[in-house]
Amino acid sequence: MKTRFTDEWIEEVRSASDLVDVIGDTVPLKKAGANYKGCCPFHHEKTPSFMVSPEKGIYKCFGCGEGGDVIAFVMKTQNMNFVEALEYLASRVNIAIPEQSDEVDPDQKVKKRLYELNREAAIFYYRNLKNAREAYAYFRKRSLSIETIKTFGLGFSSDEWQEVKEAMLKKGFTEEEMMQAGLLSKSEKTGRTYDRFRGRMMFPIQDIRGRMIGFGGRVLDKGEPKYLNSPETKIFNKRFNLYALHLAKKDARREGLILVEGYMDVIALHQVGITTAVASLGTALTKEQAHLIKRYTDQVYICYDSDSAGQKATERAIQVLLDAQMEPRIILLGTAKDPDEWIQRDGVESFQQAIKTATYFVDYQLARIQSKYTVKDDEQRVLCIRELTQYVQGLKDRTTREIYAEHLARDFQVPKGLFLGRAADVPRAKQREPAIHKEALVLKGNSRSLIQEFLMMIHEKPELFGELKIPPMVVAFIGSGFDGYASELFPLLSEGMVQEPEEIADYFAERFEKEREMLYTSKTGFSGEISLKVLTDYIKKIHLQYYRGLKKDREGLLQSIPMRDDEMRKMIILEIQEIMRKMNDLGTM
Ligand code: GTP
Ligand code: MN
Repeated sequence: MKTRFTDEWIEEVRSASDLVDVIGDTVPLKKAGANYKGCCPFHHEKTPSFMVSPEKGIYKCFGCGEGGDVIAFVMKTQNMNFVEALEYLASRVNIAIPEQSDEVDPDQKVKKRLYELNREAAIFYYRNLKNAREAYAYFRKRSLSIETIKTFGLGFSSDEWQEVKEAMLKKGFTEEEMMQAGLLSKSEKTGRTYDRFRGRMMFPIQDIRGRMIGFGGRVLDKGEPKYLNSPETKIFNKRFNLYALHLAKKDARREGLILVEGYMDVIALHQVGITTAVASLGTALTKEQAHLIKRYTDQVYICYDSDSAGQKATERAIQVLLDAQMEPRIILLGTAKDPDEWIQRDGVESFQQAIKTATYFVDYQLARIQSKYTVKDDEQRVLCIRELTQYVQGLKDRTTREIYAEHLARDFQVPKGLFLGRAADVPRAKQREPAIHKEALVLKGNSRSLIQEFLMMIHEKPELFGELKIPPMVVAFIGSGFDGYASELFPLLSEGMVQEPEEIADYFAERFEKEREMLYTSKTGFSGEISLKVLTDYIKKIHLQYYRGLKKDREGLLQSIPMRDDEMRKMIILEIQEIMRKMNDLGTM
């Protein structure tokens, strides 16, 4: 693809972008020597095998093989193309983005016109408010100050069919452009176009850079639909934007972000100085929005309406945020219908207090579960404990599980192990221990000496590592006790950061002492010449062992899945086939 960017400009953006900082936005990283490591965002893993080398400006996952530079990372994790990724990085480090020349990307020119058109339309609606007494009175009735109306650029579209159209034609925009911006609709019968927004309070929507991308239009009193939004256009994509984020982002890093349901809620909060409120654009929170949020903060407060729709939306939003590695807190509204009503009724201090005492999502979800049961009844009590147990066991973090199991045990007067699903405490729940476990042990026994020998040889001839045709996968080292060491050593070797045996010793002078000592005191040994071929054979064997263990594990799993769970079985069978294909490849290499 030809771009408008020169190679020098691209290089400038690349080198100005701090790789660790950029990746650190989405992946928690820990320093490991000259490098950083964390859990790979491209595949699911518990032991970190994702390495970032700031010196070399590259990242690499030794589990799944993903790797690249800062631009590749942004493209993959934010679903951007090359140009978008560069624009994103450039604005992140305040490097001016070269203007688009028309031949290169005609779309860019169209988009620019649409932003301008929307801006003109927003100004038009805003000015229109002065002539619309009823509309103006409505905003005032909802306690919006003139300053707030200005900050949010609120306006009004008269109940006319050709008003915006004519005004924008005068400004030099075409009907075609207005269609593209979603300002006009077209009659199927006559083919004539007319204003999409009529008789509505207008809420202009801006992207994070403050560009006008669309509108929300609210009816003045009753009428359907209550809100009409711009359709999806070249510049308006609801999934990827949040209302008022361009205003909220400033304080987000320090104070977090508050997710509310309505435009009016956002505005009411900003008006009283809570400037970190944002809302999705009339849809449930999307994972794209979660990623957008994560660029600015990890601390999200959810404050949706108190009705049952709002509670359901809260559950969904919690899940979306958790999937994006954020742990939300919930602001409980009590008897208020929504944050707007709260502020009008109880004032800002009371809301600020509620932010401070917001409920951690685990407490919120546990309370939700308990509220479904009447705990006095024994049968209900059992069902309730069962559901709570399932929830606690599903929590990702071990400490969190432990702590909440303890709380619950106290509340319910039952042993803590119940909530953790420990067999010792729950003799009756002693289900078949899945076959998986045993196989993992077999795997451990088998590969360990292979792995030790391989590592010892690599210590002697580190220079051969980079030439290996099959790059060793750290996952294959899990269970040997050396996976942590391997996950740091391999990247160093493959990037050529250490070349000599002494360098390895220097590098790991303090860390992995135990592992390294184990290698040198072990009885296993090898004799003969250490060649590329020998090392490759070892790696093949280690990988084969790993796949064999994995295959047995999945076969055991398959046996424990009931026949009726067809989907699940199919997935596992596919995975087994894939594993066998890989084993086959190794055998023929
Ligand atoms: P008020 O009722 O005036 O306080 O507005 P609100 O912004 O609080 O709206 P509400 O709580 O009813 O709805 C929350 C959000 O859902 C709105 O801001 C809109 O983004 C969206 N929404 C509500 N009703 C509709 C609708 O009829 N159509 C669409 N597309 N979105 C809607
Ligand atoms: Mn409302």
